[in-house]
Amino acid sequence: MRIAFIGFGAQARENLIPACSTLFGVDIAAICDSDPAKCLEAAALFNFDKSRIFNDHREMMDRCQPDAVIVACYPTEHYRIACDAIERGIPVFVEKPVASTSQQVIHLAELAERKGVVTGTGMNFRFAEVTGRIKQIAGDNVQMISLRQMANKPVGTLWDYDSVLRSFLHAQTIHGLDLLIHLCGPVKRLSVANNSHGEKIMFSALMEFAGGAHGTLITSNMSPHFTFDLDVLAQDKLHIKSTGLNTISVAEVDKTYIQGENKRWCDIWAASPLSSGYSRAGYTGELLDFISAIQSGDRDSQTAISTLIETYRCMDAIEKQCSQLLAVNY
Ligand SMILES: NC(=O)c1ccc[n+]([C@@H]2O[C@H](COP(=O)([O-])OP(=O)(O)OC[C@H]3O[C@@H](n4cnc5c(N)ncnc54)[C@H](O)[C@@H]3O)[C@@H](O)[C@H]2O)c1
Repeated sequence: MRIAFIGFGAQARENLIPACSTLFGVDIAAICDSDPAKCLEAAALFNFDKSRIFNDHREMMDRCQPDAVIVACYPTEHYRIACDAIERGIPVFVEKPVASTSQQVIHLAELAERKGVVTGTGMNFRFAEVTGRIKQIAGDNVQMISLRQMANKPVGTLWDYDSVLRSFLHAQTIHGLDLLIHLCGPVKRLSVANNSHGEKIMFSALMEFAGGAHGTLITSNMSPHFTFDLDVLAQDKLHIKSTGLNTISVAEVDKTYIQGENKRWCDIWAASPLSSGYSRAGYTGELLDFISAIQSGDRDSQTAISTLIETYRCMDAIEKQCSQLLAVNY
């Protein structure tokens, strides 16, 4: 399969291209970046001649006719580029955030459906090793879930956005919120407690899921480092904890351990020190899902752009409630 990349920045170089390169049968057909300096770097690194390096994504799509494109630029560009790919019938995988508004995400999903084109999104946490295991252990019976997702950025506006809150939601919260929806299904009710001020974001979202579970997302851009810790209660007896996409512990009510003890014990799974970060963080899984969707023609795969509509709806609800709470406080 000949895949072309659009955007040769940090995410493409450090995660997407290396993860793709580990997949059997995938060839990098071409690389496009609007920055001429990045094009020169790509040409030197991959030893590509002019026929495989482009400044303009439309020219690349038309001249190279790739089997798929993978896009990692900025949200407004993502939307434009995804429209251009879908219009041409080219399967397109877009990094998060796939667009800057919910309306655009809905438009992309509808356009892909109308044109019969496979899409994918960069929601790697859905495919992280711990996520698959938590799903297996909890089954469809998550009752309560809590995610603490902390970061130290963004503390200013990103891309062409004019709000730090929206930048934070679309850069960071999107991953945590999307994972909660992935594990528990659509959200019935969402309320926010907000302690943000200025560029300092700090809020908790309480969610009631349509399937009956409830959960919290506790998040901020004011932590010195990235934290991603989950507590899941399931099946009336399991307490599953996961730390930093690296370990899972499962404590089970009434399970008996050594010398008949059934308190203070738990089972622990830990990622191998030798496991590749691309699989552990979910980059390999999301790309494999996209590639197998192209091969099978499945437009409703786990990474399809349409699967992000609920996540965007919830981000909009958080943004709206945070703004209203701020207005009340002032
Ligand atoms: N899923 C994840 O874990 C994860 C992690 C980091 C970044 N990302 C996402 O990946 C995307 C890229 O992030 P980054 O850190 O690589 O940014 P970056 O600024 O390092 O790279 C973006 C690149 O896109 C190029 N570009 C912009 N518009 C273009 C266009 N129209 N055509 C071609 N090239 C264009 C820029 O010149 C730049 O080289 C962002 O949307 C970001 O949110 C996802």
